[in-house]
Amino acid sequence: MESLISLVNKIQRACTALGDHGEASALPTLWDSLPAIAVVGGQSSGKSSVLESVVGKDFLPRGSGHSRFISVRFLLFYYYRCEYCELMRGNFCAGIVTRRPLVLQLHKIDEGSREYAEFLHLPRKRFTDFAAVRKEIQDETDRETGRTKQISSVPIHLSIYSPNVVNLTLIDLPGLTKVAVEGQPDSIVQDIENMVRSYIEKPNCIILAISPANQDLATSDAIKISREVDPTGDRTIGVLTKIDLMDKGTDAVDILEGRAYRLKFPWIGVVNRSQQDINKNVDMIAARRREREYFNSTPEYKHLAKRMGSEHLAKMLSKHLETVIKSKIPGIQSLINKTIAELEAELTRLGKPVAADAGGKLYAIMEICRSFDQIFKEHLDGVRPGGDK
Ligand code: GDP
Ligand code: NA
Ligand code: MG
Repeated sequence: MESLISLVNKIQRACTALGDHGEASALPTLWDSLPAIAVVGGQSSGKSSVLESVVGKDFLPRGSGHSRFISVRFLLFYYYRCEYCELMRGNFCAGIVTRRPLVLQLHKIDEGSREYAEFLHLPRKRFTDFAAVRKEIQDETDRETGRTKQISSVPIHLSIYSPNVVNLTLIDLPGLTKVAVEGQPDSIVQDIENMVRSYIEKPNCIILAISPANQDLATSDAIKISREVDPTGDRTIGVLTKIDLMDKGTDAVDILEGRAYRLKFPWIGVVNRSQQDINKNVDMIAARRREREYFNSTPEYKHLAKRMGSEHLAKMLSKHLETVIKSKIPGIQSLINKTIAELEAELTRLGKPVAADAGGKLYAIMEICRSFDQIFKEHLDGVRPGGDK
């Protein structure tokens, strides 16, 4: 049977594809009702690193908060240029890499199949080169926001098909920040916060709250905003990055064992690639192995090693997402039925002849919804109260 998560992925894409062709008001509600995982945290806390290690691939635009300006000589003069976005200091480089939400859907495919990526805005184009994926994310960000480095809440949709992923939907959000840098309006701090909040305040959103271990947890932007929208910590998963960068003589055991800040889920510690690793092109497989070794061989963390690291995080997230989806099936199903009814009404309203494009899409979505309704019914029959199967 098809995985529940990949089914939900398909509905999400169907909702998005319909976009402005749809008058059916249940569609946005349907999209919002589908559980997804949003990654939140301060700038440079390690959000993109965590996402990449969950995927096991290098594909996100990255930089160390764009602070790596290098001196370049042009004719007689020296300039400072941002190594990542190539802009000159103070002109445009706002230091924010993620400036639009990225909705990332991971699809597990058969062992031995070639992995590839696809953007919703570029249907039928298969990317097998992940450096080109990174470039397309940057270009598509710029297309929406201009080179002015503004932010936009219009998401980019990316699907990755690979034998090495677990089925998941993850949303990468711009990093929370405390101050605007040169060239940015002062409102940017609040704008980012509002955008992040609009995603994570939805009750169906699972919050992956990223805090760096080398900063005081009390100042964590991720904890601050997730506590606001999820005070009981029921849907917040705490991830502690940069454990390897803590001051000598200190450790994160209090946090990882849930004593510093209590959440319903156990905290997960990770060790991502450092900037130096990235510059040296240390690959993800090697990085994962090193991360495993780190937790297994550090005396303080040895007893926690089994539930630490990116691989564990990916598996745990997938399992959790599946559980959440199962618990929401009845609600999703009734929304799907409502959507079908509205789509039918919309088609009747359009009458004949239907504009081929709009009508065709509506029919397609309706068919998709119908087949989901059927599959969900089968799943529901298989779900015993209290049982897992
Ligand atoms: P984001 O702004 O939250 O997306 O943060 P990034 O994932 O881009 O990471 C910011 C910087 O911190 C990069 O230079 C990363 O290499 C580095 N970094 C992230 N996580 C870790 C970690 O666990 N250990 C080390 N040593 N560096 C990390
Ligand atoms: Na933070
Ligand atoms: Mg980032």
